[in-house]
Amino acid sequence: MKALSPQEARTEFPILQDRVYLNSCSLGALSRRAEAYLAEFLERWHTMGASAWYEHWLGRLALLRRKVEGFLGAGEGSVALAASISAALSSVSESVAGPLAAGRNRVVCSELDFPTLGYQWAVKPGVELVVLPSPDGVGMDPAQFAEAVDERTLFLATSHVFFTTGFIQDLDRLAEIAHGAGALCLIDGYQGAGQVPLDLSSTEVDFYTTGPLKWLCGGPGLAYLYVRPDRIPQLLPRITGWFGARNAFDFDIRTFEPHDDARRFEMGTPALPTVHTALGGQEILDEVGVEAVAARNRELTELLVEEAGARGFGLTTADHAEQRSAIVMIRHHDPPGAVAHLARHGIIVDHRPGHVRVSPHFYNTAHEIHLFMDTLAGFRD
Ligand SMILES: Cc1ncc(COP(=O)(O)O)c(C=O)c1O
Repeated sequence: MKALSPQEARTEFPILQDRVYLNSCSLGALSRRAEAYLAEFLERWHTMGASAWYEHWLGRLALLRRKVEGFLGAGEGSVALAASISAALSSVSESVAGPLAAGRNRVVCSELDFPTLGYQWAVKPGVELVVLPSPDGVGMDPAQFAEAVDERTLFLATSHVFFTTGFIQDLDRLAEIAHGAGALCLIDGYQGAGQVPLDLSSTEVDFYTTGPLKWLCGGPGLAYLYVRPDRIPQLLPRITGWFGARNAFDFDIRTFEPHDDARRFEMGTPALPTVHTALGGQEILDEVGVEAVAARNRELTELLVEEAGARGFGLTTADHAEQRSAIVMIRHHDPPGAVAHLARHGIIVDHRPGHVRVSPHFYNTAHEIHLFMDTLAGFRD
């Protein structure tokens, strides 16, 4: 595998040539590499039709699972493909029964988590969803989880990085709290993987969801579900499909034999165009290396924080740099107006209530951060 510097990788992303793109927490930029994988997929569809399934596309699915496992520091066979984070969470929430669930009907999450996480249990009769408040609207104190997670709790379900504020949570501490009470630890890592280095094999986390859409620069239509290998034999999803079956190609409707590995959490045909664009994005992330990505993102985030402070903007972000990630929330009196003003100047960011949201990635530069800050300050004045 060749090594790419963030600066070299930048040339892979056409949007960076004529836009200042600072919205990677919503959608990672599209690379020429991803486009080439997609073109290969389309060409095989043209020339081979369905025979491409056996000769190429099943192999592409396996390659993507292996690459994602490598990137997440997860063991072979511990990652399943899902249609979305919501679908992955649904199969997790429907996989725990028997002794693991006995007498436990509580799920503990936080108000800063993405709503789809809580919705999984809000719709289930008999489940008590506990939504913990954030003391400062930025992060959570692990002690809050430790107090709420008890012998009635089935899942401690929360985010690696809060989409609302970029606050990074401590996975080891969360797993320790969950397991200390006999509960399972489920982490929504959609905003984590790809900007925060991960070694899932060395954590005790039971489930981790993420996907190619955002920090992995692979586009919409797919998600990844990590399941801790020693948990897999204890779990059998009650929503399923033929991709979850080891005997799928027997086409025997009478017997369902689940895969021994995490594929038992899969359902139906994955979105093949995204499997291909995801391979392109993943390849670039692998070549740059997650440590280099994280280092670059830290630099850009700290520059944003400094520059925003120097210009008198308030921030809704963690006080300590080690808890901050590359999602920076700048308080503003007119976020939609500011975002539209920035767009007129070729700068793409987003807004959330009361805030302009900026999310740089490894392919951005300090110059772009200065340009963004100058243009935002120009609108306020
Ligand atoms: C942290 C987080 N979790 C989940 C989701 C939703 O994922 P999906 O649409 O794949 O269900 C998002 C969407 O942006 C998110 O930011």
